[in-house]
Amino acid sequence: MGRVQILLVAAVLCIGALAQGSPIQCNPGSKSCTVNNYQGIWTDREPCEVESVAYPTNEKELIAAVAGAVERGQSIKVVSKYAHSLPKVACPRGKSGLLISTSKYDSTILIDKAAETVTVDAGVELQYLFAKLAEDGLAFPPSPSFNGISVAGAISTGAHGSGLHGRGGALHEYVVGISLVVPAKKEEGYAKVVKLTSSDEDLNAAKLSIGVLGAISQVTFAVEPMFKRSVTKQMRNDTTLEDDILELAHKYDFGEINWHINQGKTIATYSKKVPVTTPGEGRNINYTPRLASSITFWRGVAEKREAAFNRSEVCETSLDNVRNRVATGDGYVNENGTFKGYPVVGYNHLMETGGGCQNKSISPQGDKFTCPWDPELPAHVFFETAISIPFTKINQAIKDIKSLRDKNPDKLCVLNMYGGTIFRFVRGSSAYLASPQDSVQFDMLLYRDRKSNTPTLDEDSMEEIKQLLLKKYNGRPHWGKNQDAAFENMGARVTSLAKFLRVKRRMDPHGYFSSEWSDAVLGIKGGRKVSIKRKYCGLEGLCVCSEDSHCAPEQNFFCRPGVFFKAARVCRTSS
Ligand SMILES: *[C@@H]1O[C@H](CO)[C@@H](O)[C@H](O)[C@H]1NC(C)=O
Ligand SMILES: *[C@@H]1O[C@H](CO)[C@@H](O)[C@H](O)[C@H]1NC(C)=O
Ligand SMILES: *[C@@H]1O[C@H](CO)[C@@H](O)[C@H](O)[C@H]1NC(C)=O
Ligand SMILES: *[C@@H]1O[C@H](CO)[C@@H](O)[C@H](O)[C@H]1NC(C)=O
Repeated sequence: MGRVQILLVAAVLCIGALAQGSPIQCNPGSKSCTVNNYQGIWTDREPCEVESVAYPTNEKELIAAVAGAVERGQSIKVVSKYAHSLPKVACPRGKSGLLISTSKYDSTILIDKAAETVTVDAGVELQYLFAKLAEDGLAFPPSPSFNGISVAGAISTGAHGSGLHGRGGALHEYVVGISLVVPAKKEEGYAKVVKLTSSDEDLNAAKLSIGVLGAISQVTFAVEPMFKRSVTKQMRNDTTLEDDILELAHKYDFGEINWHINQGKTIATYSKKVPVTTPGEGRNINYTPRLASSITFWRGVAEKREAAFNRSEVCETSLDNVRNRVATGDGYVNENGTFKGYPVVGYNHLMETGGGCQNKSISPQGDKFTCPWDPELPAHVFFETAISIPFTKINQAIKDIKSLRDKNPDKLCVLNMYGGTIFRFVRGSSAYLASPQDSVQFDMLLYRDRKSNTPTLDEDSMEEIKQLLLKKYNGRPHWGKNQDAAFENMGARVTSLAKFLRVKRRMDPHGYFSSEWSDAVLGIKGGRKVSIKRKYCGLEGLCVCSEDSHCAPEQNFFCRPGVFFKAARVCRTSS
């Protein structure tokens, strides 16, 4: 069996170079390929090299790819078409691993209408799953914001939308079956398929596994009859935010909040489920294709603004970014592609989840359209911090952030360059690597420089909030976002980690699917540490600084305590 497998794998080596826009680059002259994330820069800025890449199109080829690597003793990772995780979730151990791309394993979308389930191949992109379900009058409730992610990647990193409706905001909550290709003994052909259903306890490990159990082959999700969402947005001051936020979570099926902390303003999204017969053809136009030249232009503006370190300019831009948001639909259109007013009513999958830019296109006039983060352009690069804390702690956490803000509101303008801080609601989960409690996820974006070792204006603001949430509130970082140091001490945060590790030892005892990153974040002894302590590490969240050299003293950035949360250590300019 082994020989056939190796041939199969060899036949699909390194054709990534042909696939336009792939995060995988294979240099024909060298024996290795590199894989990058969707922004083109990993959290640690170090390239991720692999020896070979396989592009299975079905389960048989996936088994062959895994078996071949196990027989050769090669480490393995699976990556989706666009590699949408910021940390190195998709990077195999060492430099001679096998990367399995699911970009061509995406043909099956099998709907069982009577059972209200759908079974899909690992690499199916959400845009196609949602469209296919809609044709059959079915909805997938927990829509995340972007539809260019794959089903296996989405569940494996805990991707989520927002709301307590049904099973909750996270995609993995809707998983009722998984088939997984795991390493096996020689007598078993080096790889085998494990099929799990809702009655198997191991599903609690497999439905959110950061890819360390094996290669997901297919996933079965529970779905619902199609419904529509009715969305209204409202801007308010944040005076009673800490008292109102949970009311919003409970009262609306899919509510969420944008907090413009520096301005003391919130934009609440009141989104509720309405019958499919409700008139309305509204949709979300976030992440529709953007003109490449315009993306590059706006990135240039941001780069200039940042290079000037001009806080008042950032604050002015922050005001502009918020002023007309609600009045202009904030990403929503009613019928005929224009915004006419609230409520905007439309089909579930078209209302929350945006996309289309990942398709890329060139107009007859030669204009290129793509996503705002397309690494083939000088496009946007940003840090993303996403940390969840239980509902029971949110009131105090918001009060703390307000106290921090009140020390100098303008220092938080930088958090308003990409939409403000977002709160999303996620139900308590049975997944071992998820939170068992109903939680609020804080999500913040901050400008990141293309050059390493470059301080970002007022980055200490995000860093202090991050450390406050992690340390004082024992927050949990989103597995597919965040800078490396946010994953310190996950053993204390993930209550079911021991259960998860027992399943991992059974499914992949030799750790073929583990990497330096996964060992570090799961607290497996002997590997690299989570934080990368080196010069400048504090500037990029690779470490919590403990000395000035972790910042950039020659550029006037020193390691200092937080302004409100004194236990924080952040890189701050003295001027
Ligand atoms: C905030 O809004 C409420 C009404 O929603 C109003 O009563 C209150 O005066 C406002 N506070 C500030 C500081 O503007
Ligand atoms: C900073 O930006 C403000 C507002 O755009 C501008 O008026 C001011 O001249 C700028 N300051 C410097 C030092 O460039
Ligand atoms: C949408 O456009 C069509 C054609 O221009 C028009 O007949 C229809 O009334 C419009 N619908 C709405 C809701 O504006
Ligand atoms: C992307 O392209 C595919 C194939 O051409 C098409 O079916 C799909 O509708 C497009 N998606 C979006 C969101 O435009």
